[in-house]
Amino acid sequence: MPDHLTVVTHPLVQHKLTLMRDRDTPTAVFRQLLREISQLLAYEITRDLNMTTRRIETPIEPMDAPVLDGRKLALVSILRAGNGLLDGMLELIPSARVGFVGMYRDEQTLQPVEYYFKCPTELESRLVIAVDPMLATGNSSVAAIDRLKQAGATNIRFLCLLAAPEGIARMKEAHPDVTIVTASVDKYLNDSGYIVPGLGDAGDRMFGTK
Ligand code: URA
Repeated sequence: MPDHLTVVTHPLVQHKLTLMRDRDTPTAVFRQLLREISQLLAYEITRDLNMTTRRIETPIEPMDAPVLDGRKLALVSILRAGNGLLDGMLELIPSARVGFVGMYRDEQTLQPVEYYFKCPTELESRLVIAVDPMLATGNSSVAAIDRLKQAGATNIRFLCLLAAPEGIARMKEAHPDVTIVTASVDKYLNDSGYIVPGLGDAGDRMFGTK
């Protein structure tokens, strides 16, 4: 995937995203839409996966049929909101390995601090897709990707639902090798760190917390 940034403009993605942005959309519908949209984004981010062939026999004749090549890819959820994207993606790619990275922001230093890290082995030979619905400041996503690289990952993509220009710039500066797939690049980040117009707090909206 050569482009640094891919915005998925497919009508189904854009329609579902509008429903998700609407403040009146209830939690259960938001969650279902997130599941659906995550599959459409996963379809896009995996469109150039390496292929090989396997000899099979159809009921009519033998053939060399296309199958995915290489080690199973790794989906890595950046906690907690990443989990909302993970479920749908795993339905589409059920054999993927799964990792989790937990980061919180230290209120004094404002720097992301890791509180959890558990990832599949042999990250160096897997495509790693890190997922977080909102690329806002980019601080926690950049830190999560720093950590994945420390653990050996060399081929990383980042999937999000919405991105702020600030987050995209931050990611590009810190990790120019990491391609980003998103459904929208919104206008800007407000003083509270929310994406504008955005959809509010993705974690709160998908889990029904406040
Ligand atoms: N995280 C969210 O959940 N929403 C934003 O708008 C920004 C960061």
